[in-house]
Amino acid sequence: MQRGGSRILGKASLWLAGGSLYATTCYFSYHYWRLMKSDVAASDIPLSVMEHGQRMQQFQKIANHYDDDIGRDEQVLGIPILRRMLLFFHARGTCLEVGAGTARNLPYYRTSSNVVNRVVLSDASEQMLEQAKEKIRALPVTKRSRFATLKADAAELREVFPDNSFDTVIDTFGLCSFQDPVAVLKELSRICKPTGKILLLEHGRSHSWEFITKHLDSHALEHAANWGCVWNRDLDKILEEASDDLEVDVLSRYHLGTTYYIVCRPRK
Ligand SMILES: C[S@@+](CC[C@H](N)C(=O)[O-])C[C@H]1O[C@@H](n2cnc3c(N)ncnc32)[C@H](O)[C@@H]1O
Repeated sequence: MQRGGSRILGKASLWLAGGSLYATTCYFSYHYWRLMKSDVAASDIPLSVMEHGQRMQQFQKIANHYDDDIGRDEQVLGIPILRRMLLFFHARGTCLEVGAGTARNLPYYRTSSNVVNRVVLSDASEQMLEQAKEKIRALPVTKRSRFATLKADAAELREVFPDNSFDTVIDTFGLCSFQDPVAVLKELSRICKPTGKILLLEHGRSHSWEFITKHLDSHALEHAANWGCVWNRDLDKILEEASDDLEVDVLSRYHLGTTYYIVCRPRK
């Protein structure tokens, strides 16, 4: 009996070690491949590429091949599982997603079981929203009616939504792309009901693995030029700066501390 137990334990550790090795290898291969694929030399990138307008232009440009480009990487890194978990466990009632892009979270909202009644997908890029609309049109009629799109700046929603409008507010991989991520978090808190949740799935600098952060820092401009996103932002600092307006309930880190899974509550 004891021997059987230790055999199971041995197998489990082997799976765990193998899984960790696989995830780490995938992570580094992913970054290596990204850099090799890049068509902009680091020395060619003007600092102004970090400006909002230019990054938005880049989002407009990459919108119609965004899913093809990003999809495989996300699969390899297990991102769809994190998206699914976040929305399955925490998205409820009337939801607003900001920086929704091409609606990559669309399949994970629990609209069939009425856990989620209505979802507004908003983004500042028309081209990104065009991709989202196409996906919504492809849904069965009963599901389709639950979704709407809106062109809006996530930092300036005051004219569109009054305080306490939504049960759940969502942003996935947007804090890397917004000009003022702290202003967006404050806005998300404002429009979220006092009993609601703010859900974030983000990437940023690692505080536990210095070499990976150095790597992100040294290729940040190049990455922003290609993808419109600043991948080395300090998310802990951003959350701290927004802490008068929101309280973090869950914060889990993946991929050597560069992927952040966060569940917050508005502080009212
Ligand atoms: C990296 S993409 C993430 C898309 C999507 N949330 C996802 O999970 O794949 C960032 C998105 O934020 C949008 N964005 C950037 N700045 C914005 C702003 N100020 N207001 C609203 N959307 C913005 C971009 O157009 C882009 O679609």
